[in-house]
Amino acid sequence: MRKFRAPFRKAIFICTQKRPDGHPVPCCANRGGMALRQELREMVKNEELDMELKVFTSGCLGACEHGPVAVRYPEKEYLLGITKDDLPEIMDELLED
Ligand code: FES
Repeated sequence: MRKFRAPFRKAIFICTQKRPDGHPVPCCANRGGMALRQELREMVKNEELDMELKVFTSGCLGACEHGPVAVRYPEKEYLLGITKDDLPEIMDELLED
């Protein structure tokens, strides 16, 4: 195993888990997770913050009933029921400190 320091200060993992239609458990893909991830990535890129903040795609984060869901680090904080309107606030909070 090799280790090296990640070249970004903060990260957010946005769930884009997709489940088959009719599955009894909801999924973030059907609640807009993919579009949220893409839009947040574009915001980061447009602000030239690529080296500061990374937006990752995630599989299920275990809070499916509250999707779309994300978790951010280093805060170790879940974000539940994210909407497009929340993205500016998420960006601002990710850039604090
Ligand atoms: S499908 Fe997104 S948290 Fe489970």
